[in-house]
Amino acid sequence: MLHFIYLFTLLIHFYSVNTANILGLFPHTGKSHHMVFEPLLHKLAERGHNLTVASFYPAKNPPPNYHDISFQGMFELRLESFDLNVFETPNIMNKIPRLGRMMTQVLQFRPFAVASLSICEKLVNFSPLSNALKGDYDAVILENFTSDCMLGLLYAYGVTAPVISILSGTPMPWTAERIGANDNPSYVPIITAPLSSRMSLMDRLENTLVNVVLKKWFYDEIQTKEREIIEKKFGKIPDLVELGKNVSLLLTNSYHTLTGVKPLVPALVEVGGLHLDFQKQHIPKFIENFLNESNDGVILFSFGSHIKTKSLPKYREEIFVNALSKLKQRVIWKYEGSGEEGTLAGNILRVNWLPQYELLQHEKVIAFLCHGGMLGMMEATAAGKPMIVVPFFGDQPSNAAAAAEAGIGIVLSYQDLTEDVLSDALKTIISDKMRAQASHVSKIWHDRETEPMDKAVFWTEHVVRWGKSSNLHSTARDLTFTQLSLLDVATIIIVTTTIMIVAAVYFIVKILQIFKKVTKEKLL
Ligand SMILES: *[C@@H]1O[C@H](CO)[C@@H](O)[C@H](O)[C@H]1NC(C)=O
Ligand SMILES: *[C@@H]1O[C@H](CO)[C@@H](O)[C@H](O)[C@H]1NC(C)=O
Ligand SMILES: *[C@@H]1O[C@H](CO)[C@@H](O)[C@H](O)[C@H]1NC(C)=O
Ligand SMILES: *[C@@H]1O[C@H](CO)[C@@H](O)[C@H](O)[C@H]1NC(C)=O
Repeated sequence: MLHFIYLFTLLIHFYSVNTANILGLFPHTGKSHHMVFEPLLHKLAERGHNLTVASFYPAKNPPPNYHDISFQGMFELRLESFDLNVFETPNIMNKIPRLGRMMTQVLQFRPFAVASLSICEKLVNFSPLSNALKGDYDAVILENFTSDCMLGLLYAYGVTAPVISILSGTPMPWTAERIGANDNPSYVPIITAPLSSRMSLMDRLENTLVNVVLKKWFYDEIQTKEREIIEKKFGKIPDLVELGKNVSLLLTNSYHTLTGVKPLVPALVEVGGLHLDFQKQHIPKFIENFLNESNDGVILFSFGSHIKTKSLPKYREEIFVNALSKLKQRVIWKYEGSGEEGTLAGNILRVNWLPQYELLQHEKVIAFLCHGGMLGMMEATAAGKPMIVVPFFGDQPSNAAAAAEAGIGIVLSYQDLTEDVLSDALKTIISDKMRAQASHVSKIWHDRETEPMDKAVFWTEHVVRWGKSSNLHSTARDLTFTQLSLLDVATIIIVTTTIMIVAAVYFIVKILQIFKKVTKEKLL
């Protein structure tokens, strides 16, 4: 009996020590983003932590210790909304490729600024959120994307819990410096550029300029304006750049096997693949039949949840249809409005929806034609399937470049796509060589010291346990640009060296003069 009581108190003790009150704040509307966070939040709830989660995507069957605050209706959700016809309007920028590309990288963020500010404006006065912010928390999990509004609100409500940031892809240009990670543009490609880690001089120039401009843009167009919105209601708060330094941990949905090696600090934890085994989906019967009846394998074609392939202009759609229908292989194409059982034409089955990862893992599926969304690329990498990537915007060009660098992808330009180019690329990705490489990379991808979910949970709980007393960032984040890039040191070295050279020259000249004088006197 005594043993039981002892065991019981021990259990209670463990419970109270190990369960935390965690607040999750996800003020971004992208569904693919939430697909990365949700598995972690559910896992934390499963481990007994008390979660309060404010987002645009309330949980379907939340456990009792998972409390949703819904932002739904505050802003339009971004689902299958992207119309490919935007690429049809002639753009002068295309005439000057490098410059046009750089401008696009900066300008494409404008809609995010509009969305982030509008959401911030509404959230400042959203009472369910205000009530939640009055709670007592052991940690706060924030999405680290294009808004810092939540950091300001946490400060305004005096929430002092350590902040964990989570990113649905590789770090944004303004992310790395705040935990003192190195984003040196000489070899760390920026998330928006189609560059790999090996860059030419012009690439490095582009990478550096876009990096600097985007950081400045984020400060002027988002951080400063969000601060004004918050200060209107709460009075003065510190600069959001300073509040950014409150972040204790940054979980990124990246992993070097696919996304390339980048310098890490302990606070930057790569948990790429977090979403992979969350909520397995069934392959519908009619798709399974289609797979079973194929003799030469199947190619999966999807441009993700955001881009509408239905909006492909006819002449571009024909490029895809013609190239794909020449294959011996079958094709499954995610295409909106295909009817319940899909529509079949020749070897191509068009379906409204497909369980992407389950299909990529299927032995009959041999390759993936995709747009370079991070989640799909990770699924293909994990499943060991080579891909053709046709990137459009955002992080897609850089994801595509990374896959090409890893030897498991071929990048094609949407603007310049022709039937022949696509046919050639298809031939290459279904070759034995490419499939063997993809399967090899997949094995390396899976060979880790810890599963990504366990890693994310471990570091989250580490921050809950130790908060600010466990420093994970490098002190680089407290240095100014001059200090960090050693410009001050370089100045001292250059100035001293110059002085020494000038002095040396001066002495040499003087000695020569004396020498001349002496020889002259001697001659006289
Ligand atoms: C868990 O969170 C909810 C909602 O935020 C809160 O009302 C409740 O008191 C918390 N429970 C515990 C045990 O802290
Ligand atoms: C992301 O986190 C960094 C700190 O690591 C911070 O400076 C930056 O402003 C954050 N951005 C968002 C959108 O949370
Ligand atoms: C966040 O940063 C501000 C400004 O630097 C500081 O006053 C505040 O105490 C910090 N909050 C926490 C939880 O450390
Ligand atoms: C497809 O093939 C698998 C294995 O050969 C079999 O288990 C499954 O029942 C088949 N599915 C259909 C829909 O025929």
